Amino acid sequence: MFSRAVKAIADAEVFIITAGAGMGVDSGQPDFRGHEGFWNAYPAYAKLGVCFENLSTPYHFIDDPHFAWGFYGHCVNMYRETIPHEGFHIIQKWIEQKNAPYFVVTSNVDGQFQKAGYDEDRIYEVHGSLHWLQCQTLCTKSVWTNTHTVQVDFETMRAADPLPVCEYCGKSCRPNVLMFGDWTWLSQRAEAQKRAMDAFLAENAERRVVVIEMGAGAAIPTIRAKSERFGNELKHATVIRINPREPEIYEPNISIACRALEGLKQIDSALTELVGSAAGLD
Ligand SMILES: NC(=O)c1ccc[n+]([C@@H]2O[C@H](COP(=O)([O-])OP(=O)(O)OC[C@H]3O[C@@H](n4cnc5c(N)ncnc54)[C@H](O)[C@@H]3O)[C@@H](O)[C@H]2O)c1
Ligand SMILES: [Zn+2]
Repeated sequence: MFSRAVKAIADAEVFIITAGAGMGVDSGQPDFRGHEGFWNAYPAYAKLGVCFENLSTPYHFIDDPHFAWGFYGHCVNMYRETIPHEGFHIIQKWIEQKNAPYFVVTSNVDGQFQKAGYDEDRIYEVHGSLHWLQCQTLCTKSVWTNTHTVQVDFETMRAADPLPVCEYCGKSCRPNVLMFGDWTWLSQRAEAQKRAMDAFLAENAERRVVVIEMGAGAAIPTIRAKSERFGNELKHATVIRINPREPEIYEPNISIACRALEGLKQIDSALTELVGSAAGLD
């Protein structure tokens, strides 16, 4: 499978990078699936019997904002401190070597692609971003950058005052991310990003595209479905799915059952060899 992945990347004129929570794992971020893993990472929630799905709801921002911001404030702090792993830069190197057009599509809300140096105008954050805020009461449709730092007591996972407030009405605000059962997420920033992606797809529809998918889970298959759609709808596209536990994808797409960083490193060293041996033939 690695040799086919290497060939798909060597032949590619255009890169689409699709990523789910597993892309952050090699940078040291937890993925939030499975009660065991989540409760090991957050003992305070184990005591309360609360899992990720219970926390990811807009209602806590109304009934108990210190509880809601305890979780989301902690995530923002963690994502601000995270250093994106080398895998982000391996793909950037491939793109730069070919001077290839690229687009990133991710359900991650952590801003790690921007942090690694990917162009903000070439990223579609399907579920929004924790680095942006919006009014909880929808007094305005504007969204604004999150510059606030919330202090969180890790023992209780509750946030201390002051909490971030709406720039317009002064009331409680929330991150501009899509939560479960969420009717108040303002999606216009994500919609503008989607329009940029659609224009990119139209421009590159006839070219050889490689879609590199990493860490996208099957439980909420938003990103997996998008990768497969790109593979089906673009004329000359191959999808490479890198995932240690859920790598399955149908042929002629390529399934690589390992962690994102390990997979990218292996492909990169095989690519370097391939380029070296091609140069040796001249
Ligand atoms: N970093 C984030 O922004 C973040 C983190 C957790 C959840 N979320 C949100 O929750 C939802 C979670 O869905 P999801 O599919 O992204 O995540 P998920 O937790 O459902 O699935 C994670 C996937 O990553 C794989 N994985 C684990 N370690 C990996 C590694 N080292 N390298 C590559 N893959 C690895 C797992 O096998 C799994 O398939 C998303 O909609 C997202 O908005 C975001
Ligand atoms: Zn407001």
